[in-house]
Amino acid sequence: MKIAVLGAGNMGSALLGGILRAGVVQAAEVRATTKSEARAAGLRERWGVAASAGGNSAAAAGAEVVVLAVKPGTVPKVVREIRDVLHEEQILISLAAALPISVIEDAAACRMPVFRAMPNIPVVVEEGAIGICHNSMATGAHRELVESLFRGVGVTAFVEEEQMDAVTALSGSGPAYIYMVIEAMAAAGVKMGLSREVSMRLSEQTVLGAAKHARASGLHPAILRDQVITPGGTTIAAIHELERHGLRSMLISAIETATIHAGKRTDVLLAEIEKQKHT
Ligand SMILES: NC(=O)c1ccc[n+]([C@@H]2O[C@H](COP(=O)([O-])OP(=O)(O)OC[C@H]3O[C@@H](n4cnc5c(N)ncnc54)[C@H](OP(=O)(O)O)[C@@H]3O)[C@@H](O)[C@H]2O)c1
Repeated sequence: MKIAVLGAGNMGSALLGGILRAGVVQAAEVRATTKSEARAAGLRERWGVAASAGGNSAAAAGAEVVVLAVKPGTVPKVVREIRDVLHEEQILISLAAALPISVIEDAAACRMPVFRAMPNIPVVVEEGAIGICHNSMATGAHRELVESLFRGVGVTAFVEEEQMDAVTALSGSGPAYIYMVIEAMAAAGVKMGLSREVSMRLSEQTVLGAAKHARASGLHPAILRDQVITPGGTTIAAIHELERHGLRSMLISAIETATIHAGKRTDVLLAEIEKQKHT
């Protein structure tokens, strides 16, 4: 599979690294672009891929899959730049947060499969959670191909485009919530007299282990939680405190608020893109 990653910055290069490590594509089949030569040189050195500052059209021309990894406001400009080389046999994948597929379709002016993916930052350790949606030109084979790419960096879930704001709020921003949990649990350990190093180690591993156990068991988290509780024991005393402070309700409200905010970001982005058209 020949793949072009246009705008291989933080997220683009994380995806690139993941798919190369997973062997989904070979370095010789990849072309990456950036804005600066320094970033392109870094990509050539680190991954052994062809990388250039600019040259989006040349990179897209020979690719079966074109990944748009520039900032959301730059995506329409880059798609217009490559539109002459785009064709129906290719697949476009946008990583841009908040940017609707329709904007990309308009800029591409080509009836081709367009996917929109929302990865999260743990893709850098190949443990990302990636929500994916697509337009009506995408077939089952296209979905499988796109899924195989993202499986190199994590776990995928297909959703409808109108659900992408919820994906953004849940898993896109989710690592930030969990980092806060890790931080707070480690602080509690320090308060109770553990060393910082031991506290952080135990806190991180507890989050990692609980997530792995939840997935491996296939059981609802409420059942797993009950299995840890001894009547009259320590865990139920702590859970009572968490319930009293509304941990679950707090997270539900936070993700609800973030979903609404994500929708507003789309409105702002669309207004910005409209303005760009007239300047
Ligand atoms: N970071 C995340 O956690 C995350 C999560 C989900 C989705 N995303 C999405 O991923 C996309 C990229 O985000 P990011 O955090 O990776 O940003 P980033 O690090 O700034 O990467 C953007 C890259 O685009 C390059 N670039 C700018 N203009 C270009 C052009 N005209 N042609 C080719 N390359 C160009 C930049 O090159 P230089 O480096 O040379 O300036 C940079 O490497 C965004 O659309 C964002 O919404 C990011």
